[in-house]
Parts: sequence; C-alpha cells; structure tokens
Amino acid sequence: MKPRSYFGPDDLAAMQRLVQRSWTTDSHWHLGDLGWQRPSMADRRIALWEDDEAGQVVAWAWISAPARLEMQAPAGLTGDVLAWFDQEAAGEQQTVTVVETDAALVEELSAAGYRPVDDEPFFRHCLRDLDDSLPAPRLPGGYLVRAVRPGELAARAAVHRAAWRPGRLGEMQVPPVDLGDGESGMTTKRYADIVSHWPYRSDLDLVVEAPDGRLVGTALGWLDEVNRVALLEPVGVDPEHGRRGLGVAVSLACLHAMRDAGATQAVVCPRGDDAYPVPRRLYHAVGFRDAGRTVTYRR
Ligand SMILES: CC(C)(COP(=O)(O)OP(=O)(O)OC[C@H]1O[C@@H](n2cnc3c(N)ncnc32)[C@H](O)[C@@H]1OP(=O)(O)O)[C@@H](O)C(=O)NCCC(=O)NCCS
Repeated sequence: MKPRSYFGPDDLAAMQRLVQRSWTTDSHWHLGDLGWQRPSMADRRIALWEDDEAGQVVAWAWISAPARLEMQAPAGLTGDVLAWFDQEAAGEQQTVTVVETDAALVEELSAAGYRPVDDEPFFRHCLRDLDDSLPAPRLPGGYLVRAVRPGELAARAAVHRAAWRPGRLGEMQVPPVDLGDGESGMTTKRYADIVSHWPYRSDLDLVVEAPDGRLVGTALGWLDEVNRVALLEPVGVDPEHGRRGLGVAVSLACLHAMRDAGATQAVVCPRGDDAYPVPRRLYHAVGFRDAGRTVTYRR
C-alpha cells in the first residue's frame, strides 16, 4: 500500500483516532502523546496509510532526524512502513523504537537486519487503576493546586521551561551530565498550539500556585474517552520548589481530575533506565506500577 504525506491538523486527529481505535494496555502510544507533540509535527517527515473505503488512516509513521522512525501500524502493514522508512532514509543508520510486546514488528525488524541496542535510554510504561484507592493530594502550607485559567498561557509555558531547563535535567541524571545553561524550547506560542487542539482540556491541565501567587508546578492529563484511559504527561516542578511533595500532589490532583472526567485507568511513560530515575520514583509514589517497555532497534 502506498502512503501519502501528512499535511495538517486534521491528519493529526486521524492519527490520534487510529491510536484510540487500537488502544490496549500494550500500546506504544496514547492519543495524548501525539497531542503533546503537535508543535513538532511540522518538522517531521510524516506518512499516512489510508483505507479509502473506510475513509480512515490505518497506519502512520514519522521520521525525526537523524533517521529515527516512530510508527503505528497493524501487523499486515509493518512491512510497508519499514519499506517507506528504508526509502526515505536510504544510506543512513536507521533507528526504530518499539514496545517489546509488538511481536509482529519485532519479528519484521529482526528479519530486516535490525538489532536491539543497549546504548540508548528506554521508556517504562506504568499503569494505575483510577479507583477508590486514589489518595487525596496533600500540599505543603500555602500552596494550592488548581486547573490553569484562561489568560495564563505565558505563565504556564514559563513554569514548564523552569522545570525542563536542560542544566537541571543534566543534574538529575545518574551520573550528572553537563547539558549547558540553555532553555527548554517551550514557548507561549508552542503551548497555544497544544491547547487549541483535541483532546486538550484545560480542566485536566493542573498548576501549583505558590504562596506568592506564582505558578511553580504542572501536570497535564489527556483523556481517551472511548477507552477511558488517561495519560499523565508531562509533570514538572520549578527546582526552586522541588522536593517538597509538589510533584506527587499535582500528579494526584490530575489523576483525580481524570477520574472525575470518566477515566478508569491511567498510563505514564517515564524513563525506565537507571540514568534518569526520578520521574519513575515519583510515579511509583502515586501508585503506578511497571508494565511494558520500549526497545530501540538499529541497523
Ligand atoms: C520529577 C519532578 C516533577 C519531581 O518534582 P518534585 O516536586 O521535586 O517531587 P516530589 O517532591 O513530589 O518527590 C516525589 C519523589 O520523587 C523522588 N524525587 C524527587 N526529586 C528527586 C531528586 N532530585 N532526587 C532523587 N529522588 C527524587 C523521591 O522519591 C521523592 O520522594 P521523597 O521526597 O519522599 O524521597 C521534578 O524533578 C521535575 O520537574 N523534573 C524535571 C522534569 C521531569 O523529568 N518530569 C517528569 C517526567 S514527565
């Protein structure tokens, strides 16, 4: 089957619908992953495979530099996707990340000469039931958690930048690495792009307000209403207010908001390797348990 190129937001929604139609606890993607990555889509080579009769996208793939493939395809189309990748990235070292349980894709990759690598981080999928066992969030004195308000886009983007400053992320690595003193790429414009598309909901976009009124923490939830499964992604706390329990509190508050909105299960995908352990510790502290993981293949 021949793919066509991605050309716009309607296509992203069609890719998300495919993720939603085929979601299981073993899935690589949640529709919120694609929503969060929306602003980056313009820089990627994206291909869609369509079933003309059904009028549906049945597989998609994108390539981010340098020659790194991300994809969603049923077993019958993985060969077509890999052939497209091979054509687009001819002569380059080709890298594909998959979930370990995707047996059809793993078999296809092995047959095509790809081998698993252990020089890259992997991501651990973690699951949590959103039942009565969900504890209430507890905040240190003077802080409060609430949904982001209209007009707070710039402050919302700024707290994301504070949490995701590369230098801080380098300090959190084991062993620490020097990632320089640059800034995260999150801008108000980028954030505005995310919030203006399905399935973003401001009632699932939670912020922590410090005693002085500044926003110092965030947790964003994404609800797949069909599968009643929610993604918690991302969570961030300004390092000036770190290690006071705010990450746990805002995550729990977001899980409550998602449960109230109808979710019965939550998923989160932190790094699973030992070089960046803090987020997984945080998610275990709010009751998530390890499920599947990603594996990277290269040839
Ligand atoms: C991960 C993050 C949100 C944690 O926020 P926080 O408010 O400092 O976290 P909490 O105070 O609620 O800590 C919860 C648990 O996480 C772990 N933890 C948090 N920060 C840690 C650190 N610097 N070193 C080791 N463990 C840490 C601990 O197990 C902690 O429990 P404890 O304090 O009882 O030991 C924050 O460090 C951050 O924004 N990091 C950068 C962005 C990121 O990686 N986000 C997560 C992936 S989406």
